[in-house]
Amino acid sequence: MAPALCARGVMLWLSGKLPPAGCAGSLLSGRRHRLHVYCCAHRSDSQQGRGQGGEEPAAPVPTSLARPWGSRRSLSPLHRVSHMISPEFISQEINDLLTPDPGLPDPQKEHPRPSHPPPPDDGALSPTQGTPFMPGDLVVAEFKRKHYSMFKKMFVLKSSGKLLSNWGAISSLDIVGKLPGQKLQTSTGFHFLLKRPSLDEYVTFMKRGPTISYPKDIAAMLMMMDLSPGDVVLEAGSGSGALSLFLSRAVGSEGCVHSFEVRPDHHAIAKNNFLKWKDCWQMRCARPWPDNVRFINRNIQDVLPDYKSVAFDAAALDMLNPQVILPAIIRNLKQGAVCVVYITNITQVIDLLEGIRCGELPLICEKVVEVAAKDWIVAPSLRKDGSISKRMGPSDTLEETDEEDDDNNNESQTDEDLELPVNNRPFGQMPYIARPMPWQTGHTAFLVQLRKFKPAPKPTEAEAQS
Ligand SMILES: C[S@@+](CC[C@H](N)C(=O)[O-])C[C@H]1O[C@@H](n2cnc3c(N)ncnc32)[C@H](O)[C@@H]1O
Repeated sequence: MAPALCARGVMLWLSGKLPPAGCAGSLLSGRRHRLHVYCCAHRSDSQQGRGQGGEEPAAPVPTSLARPWGSRRSLSPLHRVSHMISPEFISQEINDLLTPDPGLPDPQKEHPRPSHPPPPDDGALSPTQGTPFMPGDLVVAEFKRKHYSMFKKMFVLKSSGKLLSNWGAISSLDIVGKLPGQKLQTSTGFHFLLKRPSLDEYVTFMKRGPTISYPKDIAAMLMMMDLSPGDVVLEAGSGSGALSLFLSRAVGSEGCVHSFEVRPDHHAIAKNNFLKWKDCWQMRCARPWPDNVRFINRNIQDVLPDYKSVAFDAAALDMLNPQVILPAIIRNLKQGAVCVVYITNITQVIDLLEGIRCGELPLICEKVVEVAAKDWIVAPSLRKDGSISKRMGPSDTLEETDEEDDDNNNESQTDEDLELPVNNRPFGQMPYIARPMPWQTGHTAFLVQLRKFKPAPKPTEAEAQS
């Protein structure tokens, strides 16, 4: 008995005897030979590449042998095995099985598979975290302790040098090639999480000129404008370019953002921030970031008369005295479209609405919103030594209560600091700290949702009289 062929974990024996131990099955092949199909367990690369006792690596199996039935996989294992052996050894019984019954319907013809486009490449599907870090990439390093972020920094990864912090250093060489989401130990033993910045993180950390529209507010603004891919949007002013980036993503490559900025320095910052994000995106994703923002360094009031032919699907204003430019903008806004205004003070909201009323502008104020986002601490409550604080039941005595550390001690350590053995964490037994963070983001802005409307037609004289 000798192995006739070994490929992809399938070993065939041509033999006149019974199958050896481990045979998964056998196929009758004529009267003389019995074909045994022996399924080997898949071996690891090291087993496959190297012989025992430090022998030379085994020669790779030629492709022609590895798939002797050709490049297209046949439908069944029987088909594949039958192609490996000479036709003279295949019994009539097997041949009958291999030949399709002309009376039976061809499933492919009866139920042809719909032709879907091929799925996109995995790398393109997960552009943010799916590819390893390389020089030129944007990286966010974060270290948390006692529920709080002690260190968080965004930087461009270089092929040499170090990320320096009060908590120790990490060499760039240790980061290059790692997948995002990796924790690395600093030179002084602290564990930093390394990831790619989300757009929200990017706009928070990028170089700023004027204050940005905050991401929590931008999210609400996008919802109010109800943007879709292909939309044409007006933005004033560009500022640092935070809102421009989110608008760019919302309208996609078929859409367009016209972003006006009166100050040359702000115009330059917004443009640079947009290009930096776009370039870093391009490095890690096959799908390019859309080149869909037109940054225009002009006062919007002066330039809008040149835009007579452009109809905007929506408008986003983050600038002082927006009521001054509303009469000009409204001409270019499609009927039924929304203009969202980002304003810091409620007195400015009143000025805006009063401007609309006095100017008799066809705009309805649909909403005035302040977006509140509250950060909470939700984490296991541990004593300083890492043991679990006891949950008090009705039968527990007061003495036991006294043994408990006070709340401040309990929250001094969490999972982030300490690797607890799993049996120290019985499900449902662990008391949790669960309360709002002591420090919150304060007030950022009021968002005013205005919709362009067409007034009802005036009744004719006859209608008025009846
Ligand atoms: C608070 S910033 C906008 C920030 C921006 N939303 C962001 O997310 O980065 C306001 C900007 O509006 C600009 N601005 C004010 N009046 C303007 C006008 N009439 N035309 C164009 N830009 C104007 C200012 O120069 C300033 O840069």
